[in-house]
Amino acid sequence: MRAVRVTTLDGPGAITVEDVEEPTADGAFGPQVLVETQAVGVSFPDLLLSRGEYQLKPELPFTLGVDFAGTVRSAPEGSGFSAGDRVAAVLGHGGAAEVVAVGAESVFPLPDALSFEQGAALPMNYLTAHFALAVRGDLQEGETVLVHGAAGGVGTATLQVARGYGARTIAVVSTEEKGEVARRAGADEVVLVEGFRDRVKELTDGQGVDVVMDVVGGDLMTDSLRSLGALGRLLVVGFTGGTIPQVKVNRLLLNNVDVRGVGWGAYAMARPGYMRWQWEQILPMMESGVIAPPVGATYAAEDFGRALVDMAERRTLGKSVVLL
Ligand SMILES: NC(=O)c1ccc[n+]([C@@H]2O[C@H](COP(=O)([O-])OP(=O)(O)OC[C@H]3O[C@@H](n4cnc5c(N)ncnc54)[C@H](OP(=O)(O)O)[C@@H]3O)[C@@H](O)[C@H]2O)c1
Repeated sequence: MRAVRVTTLDGPGAITVEDVEEPTADGAFGPQVLVETQAVGVSFPDLLLSRGEYQLKPELPFTLGVDFAGTVRSAPEGSGFSAGDRVAAVLGHGGAAEVVAVGAESVFPLPDALSFEQGAALPMNYLTAHFALAVRGDLQEGETVLVHGAAGGVGTATLQVARGYGARTIAVVSTEEKGEVARRAGADEVVLVEGFRDRVKELTDGQGVDVVMDVVGGDLMTDSLRSLGALGRLLVVGFTGGTIPQVKVNRLLLNNVDVRGVGWGAYAMARPGYMRWQWEQILPMMESGVIAPPVGATYAAEDFGRALVDMAERRTLGKSVVLL
């Protein structure tokens, strides 16, 4: 079968498509679900994995692909799945192959209303958004959420999950084109990153927002903290801007605000059943149409590397997906 492989840590340009042996359902930790993959999400961890810069350092060669969607070929008894089911699934890596063996706790039912491409945009980003907003951010109905990198994968997921919780969203983007993507994903307001603090002040009648979702980091941090209202929470999710900011803790004291770390993968993977519980929390939002991942570009398997370069060069609109 074909798989998208990393054979050297020379980045996206060195990614290849190879023929590898199909997996069997007998995994080291018990019987696995076999999924025939249709679509794979293109994600930041893939980019970092291809350069050897991710916290996870698999032995070479390895298969890329964190989120994927397809149909079940076979499933262990009692797993809740059977042959032919449409599913989305998540792995640390290894989803970008025609057939994937995965533990049942990392496989989720995909509602008929969502395509395989949308399914491949779901698990990591939407479960991260749920964990960030509902668990770490303690988001309440009627609150306002500021979303940085709002036209990206985690950003669009955050806009939709926040909406599902009855929150108002303000999307921060770098271009008008990305603003359109955020608007289509359901943002209530869109502001350009340049000068966002003043616009947020206007949009909240000087009160500030309740939650900031920050995937960018870098020099946005100080203005993000200043954009929070009293008892606000800034959620640290990623550093796509390239630098890890420092926080002057006097700012936390002055306005009674929190900075909270969000590390979804490590938390969820260490707790069997946690991701399935999260999926159940957001499933009604998928069924009602509040969650409908905006898929941007689709690529062939051979172009997985090009998709990652587009992401690294900030050209990605919505979620990019590779078709197998
Ligand atoms: N903590 C967790 O549990 C967790 C889970 C999943 C992902 N993440 C992290 O979240 C981050 C976002 O992932 P994603 O999949 O949403 O990525 P993405 O789709 O590429 O979106 C990232 C956004 O960041 C913005 N950005 C600002 N400066 C950038 C730069 N120099 N280069 C690239 N983008 C830049 C871009 O928006 P503008 O151009 O509009 O500014 C872009 O849309 C990554 O760092 C990822 O590792 C964390």
